[in-house]
Amino acid sequence: MLDSVQLHDLTFTPYLSARQIQERVQELGRQIAEDYAGKRPLFIGILNGAFLFMADLARACPIEADFAFVRLSSYEGTSSTGSVKTMIGLREPVEGRHLILVEDIIDTGQTLHAFLPELARQKPASVKVAALLSKPQARKVAFEAEYTGFEIPNEFVVGYGLDYNELGRNLPDIYSLAASTLP
Ligand code: XMP
Ligand code: MG
Repeated sequence: MLDSVQLHDLTFTPYLSARQIQERVQELGRQIAEDYAGKRPLFIGILNGAFLFMADLARACPIEADFAFVRLSSYEGTSSTGSVKTMIGLREPVEGRHLILVEDIIDTGQTLHAFLPELARQKPASVKVAALLSKPQARKVAFEAEYTGFEIPNEFVVGYGLDYNELGRNLPDIYSLAASTLP
């Protein structure tokens, strides 16, 4: 039984356990390994939120692959600001590569809606998105990831890479501002 956690001024309740997360990440890794065998994809993790998901997904996907990170920013506090800045760009050439963007969560969809055309201009062979979490009810632009860990309600969540004003990223479990779903 997990306890609630206090981050800054807010209390978060347990939502997805580390075990549930790990099981799902293993499944996603196996699926991606099957789909990309022999293609040597380039995984592009979106910092900071995706750092743990990327690390676990990489280990769950035993094929030849490359790994890189970008840093984009659209979020402040508990809501998306709508504009997306590239804080750290890609150094790796992506022309002709099979890209898998690795995101912690898709909320309004605006981050990827802004970033995907930027990538497309560099002529990759293909681009797919792996998101650990998705909040379908929060979309402002239509967007679906090819690989989604969990669809969740429109509630703010923290843990496993996700933060509330930079706290909570190192929690192994995911917590929500809404009522607990774990026993
Ligand atoms: P958009 O709205 O562009 O948002 O799809 C994607 C980015 O917003 C952040 N985000 C969250 N961060 N808890 C967080 O800690 C949340 O519930 C949440 N929802 C969105 C996240 O950085 C994601 O990459
Ligand atoms: Mg993020």
